[in-house]
Amino acid sequence: MSSLKPMNSFEPLETVLMGGLVGSAIVESVRLRVYDLLETPHTAQEVSVLVGLDLIATRALLQLLVCQGLIDCACDRYVNTPLATEYLVSSSPFYQGPAIELQQTSYDYVTSNLPELLKNPGKVRCQIRHKFASGKAIQGVAQHAMRGSLQDAVEFIAALPGFADMQQMCDVGGNHGRYSMALLDRNPALSAQLFDLPNVVEAFNRTKPDMVYSDRLTAFPFDLKTDDLPTNHYDLVLVSHVLQIFRDTLDETIHRIATSVAPGGWFVSHHMNADGGAPADTKAAMGFMYHVMAKVDHFIAQDDIEQPLRRLGFETFLTGSTGPGSINLVLAARKR
Ligand SMILES: C[S@@+](CC[C@H](N)C(=O)[O-])C[C@H]1O[C@@H](n2cnc3c(N)ncnc32)[C@H](O)[C@@H]1O
Repeated sequence: MSSLKPMNSFEPLETVLMGGLVGSAIVESVRLRVYDLLETPHTAQEVSVLVGLDLIATRALLQLLVCQGLIDCACDRYVNTPLATEYLVSSSPFYQGPAIELQQTSYDYVTSNLPELLKNPGKVRCQIRHKFASGKAIQGVAQHAMRGSLQDAVEFIAALPGFADMQQMCDVGGNHGRYSMALLDRNPALSAQLFDLPNVVEAFNRTKPDMVYSDRLTAFPFDLKTDDLPTNHYDLVLVSHVLQIFRDTLDETIHRIATSVAPGGWFVSHHMNADGGAPADTKAAMGFMYHVMAKVDHFIAQDDIEQPLRRLGFETFLTGSTGPGSINLVLAARKR
């Protein structure tokens, strides 16, 4: 028996299985604000004292972070790499702490309930009304968008024919309102109305970051399942990362939103792209998470949005990709 040798290396599996542990260590180091400290070089001893950790554990953690390309070590002193400086330092405009914690709550939920979720998926769906309603969740969703998809989507929308003449826009499921704010920055004549669930609007009004927008951006409590928007009213209607929640009633939901676009105005959907360039393993992991959590496919095929809009008389379809690895599609359609 002991002379038997396997034909295949176990190494690829080992790496994947260790990945969860490495992810948790990174999340914890963000929570502990290790990267705020390592904007200037520090020894392991200094980090252990200032963060309040055991010295041996600190050395092991720092070594792990070096191997992940998050910090460098020279002459026994550790310092952030540009990657950590940009995304993991709390004063950076692209800080991902709240977004990482929000993501981690989903991973933890799936991990601890996996046996049950594989037999009975979709349990998180009923919690969607509360998931996005805290100040911290709003901050997390906003910071996630700042990884690049918001900037790309805003660039795409600002280049739509007629953007400079737009006056009224609507942000359905707008949550943190950053898409609206970025578009208001690009067009001083534009005003925005944000619609979201009542508890989200309450949280939004508590955390609205900049009073500069107060007279041009108004949030309204709204339920896309039951409430109607004003008919033929907006020059631009944006629905970003919301339609996946309504996969079972996609045509009806698109119809409900699209009736609010004024003739000549644009409907813009921003969503995860089923045909995009994201690596297959990323797509499979995300697909797995959303299927077991919410029993829906987070990725939406272009045709599933385009066809209902064509039936409603929309024409001139334009598309772009957004975000790291072009993981999202932004699709614009103009009402006749
Ligand atoms: C993933 S977030 C997207 C936030 C933002 N649009 C973005 O792209 O970053 C989904 C948003 O849809 C909202 N939402 C979910 N169900 C809704 C409903 N029935 N009516 C209105 N908004 C809803 C959530 O509250 C949340 O703000």
